Amino acid sequence: MAKRQWKGGALLAPVPVALVTCADGEKQNVFTVAWTGIVCTSPPKTYISVRPTRYSYALIRQSGEFAVNLTTRQLVRAADYCGVHTGAKVNKLEKCGLAVEPASVIGCPVLADSPVTLECRVTEVLPLGSHDMFLADIVAVDVDEALLDSAGKLHLERAGLAAYAHGDYYELGRKLGGFGFAVARKKKRPAGGATRR
Ligand SMILES: Cc1cc2nc3c(=O)[nH]c(=O)nc-3n(C[C@H](O)[C@H](O)[C@H](O)COP(=O)(O)O)c2cc1C
Repeated sequence: MAKRQWKGGALLAPVPVALVTCADGEKQNVFTVAWTGIVCTSPPKTYISVRPTRYSYALIRQSGEFAVNLTTRQLVRAADYCGVHTGAKVNKLEKCGLAVEPASVIGCPVLADSPVTLECRVTEVLPLGSHDMFLADIVAVDVDEALLDSAGKLHLERAGLAAYAHGDYYELGRKLGGFGFAVARKKKRPAGGATRR
């Protein structure tokens, strides 16, 4: 593979495209965040990196809380809209017809139509340059019951999750394998049994 060397840049892909809800007691807002991820399993921790100029920045700083709502193909248009308009000028929740409901633990609302929402409490704010990173504990996770089977297993593959890669939005597609499939032992084919593809 012949490669070109570019200067350092934020070219990690795919990344999530999350609708982050926040509030300060009076005002509620929603905005789009791609710079997010999990940084620790136990305790469960996430981060969002936010430019201090965002309207949401002050709401999160003041409340110390936010919710990361995963987006789906049905929510991706709203995610794009909420990523190019500011809550300082427009009520994006109303404009996009995004229904909210109370979170289970934190004080800011969550999106009713997001299949998975991480309720987060900020533990540290790290100024990094263009963005400040809000490091946060994930204090609760709200999961769409329709994605749970009778044993309580979550089928996230049914959610139509959206991802963001180099300026474009995608819906997650074909499954390539499960965790550990590279090292899993092949099941012996029963004599005369058909091969599954
Ligand atoms: C796909 C996408 C990803 C974005 N990711 C981030 C991000 O990670 N951090 C950030 O500060 N802004 C990000 N933005 C920009 C904000 O969502 C945008 O400036 C928004 O208008 C801020 O809303 P607010 O002023 O109501 O807070 C993103 C925008 C889009 C479209």
